[in-house]
Amino acid sequence: MKVTVVGAGNVGATCANVLATREVCNELVLLDIKEGFAEGKILDTFQCATLMDFDTKITGVTNDYAATANSDVVVVTSGIPRKPGMTREELIGTNANIVKSVVTEILKYSPKAIILIVSNPMDPMTYLALKETGLPKNQVFGMGGALDTARFKCYLSKALNVNSNEIEGMVIGGHGDTTMIPLIDKATYKGIPVTKLASREVLEQVAADTMVGGATLTKLLGTSAWYAPGAASAYVVESILRDQKKVIVSCCYLEGEYGQNDICIGVPAVIGKNGVEKIIELDLTAEEKALFEKSAEAVRATNALL
Ligand code: NAI
Ligand code: 2OP
Repeated sequence: MKVTVVGAGNVGATCANVLATREVCNELVLLDIKEGFAEGKILDTFQCATLMDFDTKITGVTNDYAATANSDVVVVTSGIPRKPGMTREELIGTNANIVKSVVTEILKYSPKAIILIVSNPMDPMTYLALKETGLPKNQVFGMGGALDTARFKCYLSKALNVNSNEIEGMVIGGHGDTTMIPLIDKATYKGIPVTKLASREVLEQVAADTMVGGATLTKLLGTSAWYAPGAASAYVVESILRDQKKVIVSCCYLEGEYGQNDICIGVPAVIGKNGVEKIIELDLTAEEKALFEKSAEAVRATNALL
């Protein structure tokens, strides 16, 4: 199985590193527009092979799309990241042009690839990539919910003082500070609703921390985060390549689900070898439904800027 990661910056290189070291694919290409950058990141990763015991075939290239030919999955991370004080939405102008040109080049060499969009603002970028390529909706989707859900579980585990791996929960809606919806009332620890284990006040703080999870890191790091975003992207790729059919909140094109049409937004979906294999419709409470509608409205408003 072959994976291409476009953008060898913080997120792309981390995703490539996780995929290579975990031997999720047997061939990996990392591509960047900056001369020598992807080559350097790959050489550095290759020098870990004997230390970490992996033998994934890895290649770094500068804008050479021929090298990406016949990829099964392509992860698009190219574009500018947020700086402190910036929203993801402010990146739209620059990143839309980059995403458009990248998916066009990718399609020339890998028409059957499943395309995973990571570049921000991710929901509009996914919508743009889907429309630009004309590919079926299962083949183009975005990563945001996997990361937001991981952050939600971390904050919940801290609040409850339990192992985050034993928490089930989801964050749906747009991948934005004000658009994501941590589903507090549906989260559980070992099957026990978290609402039975912590006060509403504590859980609301968890939700608030989750929603600004990316902004908190941007403030601390001076640019947006990369370890968890890279790992979350690799997690989605693994579910595709190994046909794990994991239910992962992903940015999917909706045609009537959740009462929405013609929008890409975060909903739980079965992710397998065909990409988005099924969208799961949760029974949302009236309050959750209202939040989802508001989130969709905000995503649509950003889509209108494309
Ligand atoms: P970065 O600046 O470290 O890396 C971006 C890379 O893209 C750079 O190396 C740049 O040379 C490259 N690039 C720019 N134009 C290109 C083109 N036309 N073709 C190929 N490569 C090109 O940024 P970072 O931190 O890796 O973030 C990448 C994107 O991912 C940003 O838009 C960021 O906001 C987004 N992001 C999304 C997340 C999500 O959950 N969806 C989470 C974290 C970041
Ligand atoms: C994040 O959530 C900024 O989307 C990026 O870290």
